[in-house]
Amino acid sequence: MTETPYRREPGYAERYRDHRFRSGSGSNTDRREREVLRALLGRCEAGSGLWLDAPSGAGRMSDELPAAVVQVDRDAAMLIAAGPERPRVCASVHALPFADGTFAGVLCHRLLQHIPGADERATVLRELARVSRGPVVLSFFDRCSLQHLRRTVRRWFGKTRSGRSAVGRSRFLGELRAAGLEPIAVQALRLRFVGEQTLVVCRPRPRA
Ligand SMILES: C[S@@+](CC[C@H](N)C(=O)[O-])C[C@H]1O[C@@H](n2cnc3c(N)ncnc32)[C@H](O)[C@@H]1O
Repeated sequence: MTETPYRREPGYAERYRDHRFRSGSGSNTDRREREVLRALLGRCEAGSGLWLDAPSGAGRMSDELPAAVVQVDRDAAMLIAAGPERPRVCASVHALPFADGTFAGVLCHRLLQHIPGADERATVLRELARVSRGPVVLSFFDRCSLQHLRRTVRRWFGKTRSGRSAVGRSRFLGELRAAGLEPIAVQALRLRFVGEQTLVVCRPRPRA
């Protein structure tokens, strides 16, 4: 299947890079996300080699990874906004153009809340597991949280069109296991049951 190139409105990538996480509550979120990511990376052992940041967006979290990074995003404008310092590949996380076990570790940050269905999520999780021979760190939105309840109520009353999708923590951990990943630590950005954004670090299960 050939995917058509993905494009947003002009200027979106630069705005995401320069404003989304650099002002107001965005900068607090950025600070917390970095703290949680560092804490989880400290819980896992990775061998030497390249890491994959997929999707990298404009490369916000690539600096946090413990080795040289390859950035993947389906939006070429995001990769251009990320700058030329690292290798960049325009591709979908549904079908990564890398051989099995290419990377020493993989980060998938702030993608899964944009994926509405369990089947599609399973495809992505299997693909991330396939290309990693070491840790895989992912974020997801936890359905069992006040923030998700608030979003749902606001949507009922037409106050937001946000289509973010969330999944319960234990269900998501089951999906990770089904994709061949063994969760070793989970940490919510705020308190569990309060904030949606939650990070998990997994190790790959030995390949058959
Ligand atoms: C919210 S941004 C997150 C970027 C970065 N990880 C961060 O935390 O700042 C989500 C990114 O996912 C990319 N994206 C969405 N679906 C994708 C897919 N199927 N394959 C690759 N990239 C995708 C978008 O283009 C966007 O740049």
